[in-house]
Amino acid sequence: MSYGLPYQGSKSAIADWVIGVLPASHTLVDLFAGGCAVTHAALASGKFDHVMANDLTAAPRVFLAATEGDFEGYATVPNRGEFFDSDDIVMRLLYSFGNDKSTYLWSAETEELKIAASRMLSAPSMHERRMYFKEFCDRLARGGGLSIAWSTSKAFKGSNGCRAWSALRGCRGLTA
Ligand SMILES: C[S@@+](CC[C@H](N)C(=O)[O-])C[C@H]1O[C@@H](n2cnc3c(N)ncnc32)[C@H](O)[C@@H]1O
Repeated sequence: MSYGLPYQGSKSAIADWVIGVLPASHTLVDLFAGGCAVTHAALASGKFDHVMANDLTAAPRVFLAATEGDFEGYATVPNRGEFFDSDDIVMRLLYSFGNDKSTYLWSAETEELKIAASRMLSAPSMHERRMYFKEFCDRLARGGGLSIAWSTSKAFKGSNGCRAWSALRGCRGLTA
């Protein structure tokens, strides 16, 4: 289970443990909440009647809005130009390297292949996912080395990754 927002220094990996060692109580106050991983795990645990999150940054407000379903359009991965042209804090958070909100997630060298890979998994319609799947295969065949394919394959795990990766085995240019 992944908790909270993507956030550098997130406690998502240990959030279950943190909540497990805390006694059940009326209110939990998550000070320095950052991406709200501990807040999220606390809410999911049902051990607390109220959970309060506080941070110097706007992250807890973004987390709250996400729980209210405000960000459904954000599965569409921006390219480098769209990222730098936007002052949308959520897009900046989700698609920056280390979630630092200022540097674009991928290198210029791998960007197009990774965008195609991400969109083939997350685009809203089956038609678009198919289109990006084909684009991903084409890009891989044209210039993609196995090292890029391998690092991209890590992104598949946890979604429908294993199936997508198996499907790719028949693609031109892929020798793994
Ligand atoms: C390491 S992060 C916390 C990560 C968080 N536990 C999580 O799992 O995502 C530390 C946080 O403390 C916040 N912070 C630092 N000084 C603060 C202050 N004076 N008041 C409120 N928050 C502060 C920072 O903005 C940062 O988000």
